[in-house]
Amino acid sequence: MAIDIEKLMKQSEDSSMRRTLGPLNITLLGIGAIIGAGIFVLTGQAAASYAGPGIVISFIISGFACAFAALCYAEFASMIPLAGSAYTYAYATLGKTVAWIIGWDLILEYLFSASTVAVGWSGYMVSFLKDFGITIPEALSSAPLIKTADGIVASGAIINLPAMVIIGLLTMVLYYGIRESAKFNNLVVYLKIGVILLFIFVGYKYITLDNWTPFIPENTGKFGEFGWSGILRGAGVIFFAYIGFDAVSTVAQEAKNPKRDLPLGIIISLIVSTILYILVALVLTGMVNYKFLGVPDPIAVGINSAGNSLMWLRPIIKIGAIAGLSSVILVMLLGQPRIFYSMSKDGFLPPLFSKIHKKHKTPHITTIITGVIAMIIAGILPIGILGELVSIGTLLAFAIVSGGILVLRYKQPDLPRGFRTPWVPFVPIMGILTSLAQMIALPFDTWMRLLIWLAIGMLIYVFYSLPNLKKMG
Ligand code: ALA
Repeated sequence: MAIDIEKLMKQSEDSSMRRTLGPLNITLLGIGAIIGAGIFVLTGQAAASYAGPGIVISFIISGFACAFAALCYAEFASMIPLAGSAYTYAYATLGKTVAWIIGWDLILEYLFSASTVAVGWSGYMVSFLKDFGITIPEALSSAPLIKTADGIVASGAIINLPAMVIIGLLTMVLYYGIRESAKFNNLVVYLKIGVILLFIFVGYKYITLDNWTPFIPENTGKFGEFGWSGILRGAGVIFFAYIGFDAVSTVAQEAKNPKRDLPLGIIISLIVSTILYILVALVLTGMVNYKFLGVPDPIAVGINSAGNSLMWLRPIIKIGAIAGLSSVILVMLLGQPRIFYSMSKDGFLPPLFSKIHKKHKTPHITTIITGVIAMIIAGILPIGILGELVSIGTLLAFAIVSGGILVLRYKQPDLPRGFRTPWVPFVPIMGILTSLAQMIALPFDTWMRLLIWLAIGMLIYVFYSLPNLKKMG
């Protein structure tokens, strides 16, 4: 059974967290979470292997698919402004069991994406330091496990130390306060947007039309290798670049005017990021032939192609990428404890998970728990496995949130909504279909990992949450 929304609304008035965030901070948190490894790392890979310059069209397709889910998130965030995000929306509309599944699933999106992006951060940091003659041995800066055709095997490396260090540092910032965290995020977001704009304005002069011809390279005969199917596969890969706009909804209880500012933050951050992505993809594939972009630092390759005249831009781009990736990690590490907080308040998790620090007003215990687990994962797992798990987990959340909007419009049409998703049922139905289609495109072993993850979650639900919920009445 779904829960009474009025009861949830009362919870949203809970003032134990500090309400300090205005519309600008909230939008910057969204941009902070969105722009990261997707554009700085994955774009090149997707262009080189699947879409060529047509990656620009992949960005447009994936952006549209996310917009459907974003419009649904915006309605929920304006209606039930609670820190639990998709978990709370499911609780309100689809009942306890679905709520638990989605809450457990969101760990894949938030905690695991913090680890994924930290691994990307480590790669950029190691390369940046190397430019200054400081070498960090590979054994200490890459995962001890790698994914090969024969499965997951030992790589010979010991641990990814830089990835662990950045998570540790950002966890400390988050421990000390939401205001401090937002200030840090604002600074970093301005820096990364500045660097991206600089790349676009300087780089467009080096575009040669030859690199865009043909704009959609001919399909090789295999599905997904160039041509229109390649553009679709490219869209699936760079979906990762859009993850994060929904993280805005986890600061609902720290926003001054959540009903107005959360939908605004979600939609504006998605629009700004989409425009920047399309421009970067256009400039990058115009500067350098897509075949050379299959590297971990494609933007740096674009700059190299301009010869010595753009050498000055290289370190700046790397600093922008390092900053950009830091803010993604920060906002993801910020979202996770707040979801745990809501789940604990509702009785799904032990009361310890909803403790708020007396002075700092942050969910300090879950912040530390999240940080430590994310550190361990980032230290040992490779980016490929992590990234796919994050995508499938997020897509499942998008599908459920879109479904929730349909259910609630039908069950409680008169509930006050600060923002209404337009064109219902078209938008939510498209939200469900585009999310499911992208999930289906992911590899079989990613599905298996998702199912194993959900099975572990169900055990906790049956043996802890259900008895506890009964006790609470
Ligand atoms: N969208 C985020 C990124 O690209 C997760 O890093």
